[in-house]
Amino acid sequence: MDALDLLLNRRSIGRLSAPAPEGKALENIIRAGLRAPDHGGLTPWRFVISQGEGLQKLANILVKAAKAENSDEAVIEKVKNAPFRAPMVITVIAKVTPHDKVPAFEQHLSAGCAVHAMQMAAVAQDYQGFWRSGKWMFHQEVRDAFHLKGDDQIVGFLYLGTAGCTPMKVPDRDLSRFVEFL
Ligand SMILES: Cc1cc2nc3c(=O)[nH]c(=O)nc-3n(C[C@H](O)[C@H](O)[C@H](O)COP(=O)(O)O)c2cc1C
Repeated sequence: MDALDLLLNRRSIGRLSAPAPEGKALENIIRAGLRAPDHGGLTPWRFVISQGEGLQKLANILVKAAKAENSDEAVIEKVKNAPFRAPMVITVIAKVTPHDKVPAFEQHLSAGCAVHAMQMAAVAQDYQGFWRSGKWMFHQEVRDAFHLKGDDQIVGFLYLGTAGCTPMKVPDRDLSRFVEFL
């Protein structure tokens, strides 16, 4: 796939089926994440892969957090089902190293870039992905389950799998709304 075509036309599809990427394809996805811009060479990334039983473990973590907030049944049901929208979920964590010149913000951005790079690498190999977040990724129960310390932060859940339909066309946006010259 042409790199520019990928950059200009990638879309998200909110529900994915098996197969999930595996073997070399999955390795490429992780390696793409490891190519995220990295100020100071701090490698501020952790990728926690859930599939099969791992999806159930992720659901259990989210349900525990929702219950800790006395959430109503509808919310608990929603988080219980959320991880099963794809055969694989990669929880992407910014692993922050305190540094004089590289604030936590930049390390969070770097982990965000990793999510995007991995989503692109999935699409480039005929898989699909979508990025989800939500308040639970800031919850202490979830932080503890993923052993987050200090300024560490989950920056997203990258759902990966195979699309059952063709992605929608990208919106045609008027560049002049977004671009100005100084
Ligand atoms: C940090 C971040 C978190 C996101 N979290 C969610 C989310 O929780 N739920 C959601 O529907 N979309 C979320 N999105 C947006 C989708 O991933 C997606 O970009 C959006 O639906 C537009 O689709 P597209 O990628 O095809 O343009 C998030 C995007 C980013 C950058």
